[in-house]
Amino acid sequence: MSELTIPKSEKHLFAPGPTNVPEDIRREVARDLIHHVTPEYAELLWRVTDKLKKIFKTEKYVLSTTATGSAGMEASVVNFFSKGDKVIVLNTGNFGNRYLEICNAYGLKAIDLKYEWGQAYNLEDVKKALAENPDVKGIIVNHSETSTGVLNDVRPLGELTKNTDMLLIVDAISGLIVNEFKFDEWGIDCAVAASQKGFLLPPGLIYFALSEKAKKAMETSDLPKFYFDFQRYFDFLEQGRHPQTPAVNLVVATDYACDYLLGKTIEGMTAHHKMLREYIESELMKLGFRLFVEDEDKRSNTVVPVWGIEGIPCNDLRKKLSEEHNITIAGGYGHLQPHMLRVGNIGKYEKSDIDFLISKMKIVIDEMKAEMNK
Ligand SMILES: Cc1ncc(COP(=O)(O)O)c(C=O)c1O
Repeated sequence: MSELTIPKSEKHLFAPGPTNVPEDIRREVARDLIHHVTPEYAELLWRVTDKLKKIFKTEKYVLSTTATGSAGMEASVVNFFSKGDKVIVLNTGNFGNRYLEICNAYGLKAIDLKYEWGQAYNLEDVKKALAENPDVKGIIVNHSETSTGVLNDVRPLGELTKNTDMLLIVDAISGLIVNEFKFDEWGIDCAVAASQKGFLLPPGLIYFALSEKAKKAMETSDLPKFYFDFQRYFDFLEQGRHPQTPAVNLVVATDYACDYLLGKTIEGMTAHHKMLREYIESELMKLGFRLFVEDEDKRSNTVVPVWGIEGIPCNDLRKKLSEEHNITIAGGYGHLQPHMLRVGNIGKYEKSDIDFLISKMKIVIDEMKAEMNK
């Protein structure tokens, strides 16, 4: 397969999703529509489902639907649990908090293990919570917490849930591909991913991996669901269909993007993003920024969050980058919004793209400093 080309877009997205969509993938999105109730679509859907299994690293089940990541988080709760069930939510940032809100909205009893932003969860806390609450039905965690740039270690959680009835539910939306992820080996029961992240696609599709244990738990779950009822997806998948009209062209483009990713190997993709993350970190530090996640082992390759430079307001810097250089980088989340920058590392970048970004940041910072000193 030929190398994907860097988009000729005038816009330079360095956000942690959506990211620049390479030209070849945009071409796939723009292909002639095919109808979704045809043998041609059935072949496509089954083919894509098999490729997604390789990306999640599972031999079990993969489903997909048309929606955004947050909907995927909701689906990963409503399909398995029942009203009043007790779950542990590892709340390490904005998206951990979103899981908590979803659990509360559906009447689960969520134990909120909340951490200071920039910290990953602590395994001892989970063990303690489990010892105090033997009736816990599931552990819910965000693999890569995009709001803070923290990577939560999923593997030891699987060790806790593996030979029990508890489920391990993982938001891998921004973590998959870009960071190591092994669904079967780590004993995960449901993982959610989204097209606009490591898949290099536009937003609109979400993908799920499910274990045998998760499939069994669906049978007893009594939370309300219709659009996201996984049983309907399993039934339709047998016929090579979704239960609704899917975003057909995103499914077509997923087929193509998976070939690209699997051609590079998922390990190769992860290593590339790690190399770039380290490069971004060192280049940003040379400009005077301070890394937000202090513990190197806890840094996700998805995004590099930094504290702003004294006297250079982060939002003004972002505004100038956008207006004068067509470059988008993200700001902080929530209470940290004005104090931080988050440079996304989820697109198809090479070192030269980072050099381009850093050179423009340097120009803008120098201009802002000169303005200050006038
Ligand atoms: C880790 C994580 N979870 C959930 C979401 C929510 O996804 P969406 O905005 O597609 O609903 C995001 C989006 O940035 C994310 O990064």
